[in-house]
Amino acid sequence: MRPYDVILKKRNGGKLTKEEIQYMIMGYVNGEIPDYQMSAFLMAIYFRHLDKDERAIFTEIMAKSGDMLDLSPIKGVKVDKHSTGGVGDKTTLVVAPIVASLGIPVAKMSGRALGHTGGTIDKLESIPGFKTSLSLEKFFENVNKYKIAVVGQTANLAPADKKIYALRDATATVDEISLIASSIMSKKLAGGADAFVLDVKVGSGAFMKDISSAKELASAMVEIAKSHNKTAVAVLTNMDEPLGTFAGNSLEVLEAINTLKGQGDEKFRILCLTLSAWMCHLAGLGSYEKCLELSKEALDTGKALEKFREFVKAQEGNEMVVESPEKILPISSKIVEFKASEDGYISSIDTEKVGIACNYLGAGRVKKEDNIDHSVGLEFLKKIGDKVKNGDTLVRLYVTEKSNINEAMNLLKQAYNISSSKTNSLEIILDIVK
Ligand code: URA
Repeated sequence: MRPYDVILKKRNGGKLTKEEIQYMIMGYVNGEIPDYQMSAFLMAIYFRHLDKDERAIFTEIMAKSGDMLDLSPIKGVKVDKHSTGGVGDKTTLVVAPIVASLGIPVAKMSGRALGHTGGTIDKLESIPGFKTSLSLEKFFENVNKYKIAVVGQTANLAPADKKIYALRDATATVDEISLIASSIMSKKLAGGADAFVLDVKVGSGAFMKDISSAKELASAMVEIAKSHNKTAVAVLTNMDEPLGTFAGNSLEVLEAINTLKGQGDEKFRILCLTLSAWMCHLAGLGSYEKCLELSKEALDTGKALEKFREFVKAQEGNEMVVESPEKILPISSKIVEFKASEDGYISSIDTEKVGIACNYLGAGRVKKEDNIDHSVGLEFLKKIGDKVKNGDTLVRLYVTEKSNINEAMNLLKQAYNISSSKTNSLEIILDIVK
């Protein structure tokens, strides 16, 4: 076999065999196939796509290129949640304690902020003392004891995806559904869970800008899970505006704690309850409706809040964060306001620009090695459909002397559109794909 023949076959729309896919992926990982041939192969896939069988194989080979975590030391059905990434997405901080408080083990490996989206690990590190790096033994021990542990990715998960993703990033081949689905699911399969709840974001702040491509991505991921004898449900959720009230690390932890106390943004609460209910359902706790009731009860009775406290303590964070989040979390006291420049209704928000504005304040990274500032971020006072008057504050910016306030303000100006005609508020849950 030669790389040329496999590239030609896919370029002409042929269906690849397992041997051919394995030959290309592992040849590239081992350094036997050069960047230029792998780039041509990826571009052929970009235009010709992979069918259901090819996607399942592509995913499996990338998953098996590194460690395959064995979660069998953890008792019970392990359900993982994955978000395709958004602005203000602190969902894991609420969903994980709800689900764990209902006795379902949550063994989660999460990522850091990159691009315009945030990362759970950076958010958790806003809590003084909190350890996001545990040995595998301690990780298993915590999940068995408390039903919850959230750590940064330590194992060597899907190195083939890492290498191929970097090449896709440089060759304009990221935004192809088969490649995105295989990339995400290879890491999920290597992570070892039995079932997955996939939060597929749709809109201006998401990878998928429209509902039909989001549905296609969701179906591709659910099918890949099924081909590997795992179950998955994808929840399509709105990212045409930031999620909840805050974006930025400490501010999002504060919002998560408030939500666990029964306060806060209603749409964010609905999203957390929906994802929790699907996770519990996949773990075998009962019908979706029953699991939704149980999740609500866990939130409303404070059971999930107590689980959050236990989780913070177990990972050596300051548990006083639950009582006094404003005191314990580093939150900048310097505030600048972005105001409306006309009367009307908020008609659209370019959410990706809002995420980048947050990075200019110091909340995210442009490069992997950049340091982040946990104390900065944005507070959203108005959302789509809200009536505003000239001079009303739309966004509060929590800044430090290092923040690039001018760039952030410019982006917010470009991001917010005000119209004279009334616009409707957005639904948070758009569709379910099973
Ligand atoms: N996230 C991933 O992990 N992979 C992709 O290809 C796109 C988003």
